[in-house]
Amino acid sequence: MDMGHIGATAGGGVGRLALTDLDRQARDLFVRWCQEAGCTIRIDRMGNIFARRAGSENDRPPVMTGSHLDTQPLGGKFDGIYGVLAGLEIVRTLNDAAVRTRTPIDVVNWTDEEGVRFGSGTLASAVFSGLCELDDALARTDLDGNTFASELEHIGYAGTEPVGGYPVAAFFEAHIEQGPILEAEGKTIGVVLGAQGQRCFKVTVEGEEGHAGTLPMERRRDALVAAARMIDTLNAIAFRYEPHPVITVGAIKVRPNSRNTIPGQVVFSIDSRHPDNDLLAAIAEDMQQSCGRIAKDMQLALTFEQISERATNIFDDRCIASIRNAAERLGISHRDVYSGAGHDACNLTHYAPTGMIFVPCENGISHNEKENARPEDLAAGCDVLLHVILEHAGVV
Ligand code: GLV
Ligand code: MN
Ligand code: MN
Repeated sequence: MDMGHIGATAGGGVGRLALTDLDRQARDLFVRWCQEAGCTIRIDRMGNIFARRAGSENDRPPVMTGSHLDTQPLGGKFDGIYGVLAGLEIVRTLNDAAVRTRTPIDVVNWTDEEGVRFGSGTLASAVFSGLCELDDALARTDLDGNTFASELEHIGYAGTEPVGGYPVAAFFEAHIEQGPILEAEGKTIGVVLGAQGQRCFKVTVEGEEGHAGTLPMERRRDALVAAARMIDTLNAIAFRYEPHPVITVGAIKVRPNSRNTIPGQVVFSIDSRHPDNDLLAAIAEDMQQSCGRIAKDMQLALTFEQISERATNIFDDRCIASIRNAAERLGISHRDVYSGAGHDACNLTHYAPTGMIFVPCENGISHNEKENARPEDLAAGCDVLLHVILEHAGVV
């Protein structure tokens, strides 16, 4: 709840975009809490923060846990934040109980999981996991032309540590489910088996500005009319495949965005997701061709760029089993689930044995100021995470 004050919105949620002053404040608070809990802090070149609780054998690879502190523009207090603070809570609990682990434990805050400003999410964990080049990520620009590198610099979190490149024993991420299944079935823990694939695109439609009062309709090259037709078509495409993929156009920028100038350029985002990677590729082709046809008919130029791709992934069998067993031992109800959302843990599957723990959230609502979760469910997820981490880190 203290973290939720930073960027609190009028509607009871949180708006704390990555690499803004609010993100800096959240990071500073997290770093302070971790230092107070006796952790040492490392920050890498993507701004990922690692808070380490030493073990008895510190040359062993760490067991890592965490998530993200950035939010959607109209987001909630729990998406991501829960997973970071669950890690901190485990450190505090081990301190209180004077338990020493064999390997170190790293609690991580991954930079820019949400991908609101720079086009694609989970960017910093993708670099960490070797799925994206560091220089490409740092050169990414937001819609105002600011680079990821300069914004990282601006908030004082452009660290010097290399991004990844060292062994991690296992990674676990606790997260709210962001969907309705656990609540509907009265289960407290979701043992996450995998997550669906995702491709994101940036579409640029080039028309020509003109006077809204003087240019006859038949002579216009209106980029926004073209974009509107494309967006409607993209929505229809989602209904052509079974089971339906999800396709979302959620961000749009119109140039010059003036009541009485015909729009000369429109840039919009596409987020497409499906569990079948081949189907996702077919949809990408379909979307590009459909937008191309509309642009051609209207004699407008089109750039259709794929800016990220994450294949459907599965989590590590041993990590899945330890989450399930921990819930069982603790007498907490559980069921296996798949994730519709993307998570940093999906990238980490390419780097280290990885698992995810879900807890229910109210009415399955997320990416919404109304997002809410019950303290007892959050505590149960934290308990399971603690036991899983102890199993992998070893107790002295
Ligand atoms: C993360 O919030 C996602 O887009 O799935
Ligand atoms: Mn999240
Ligand atoms: Mn999110």
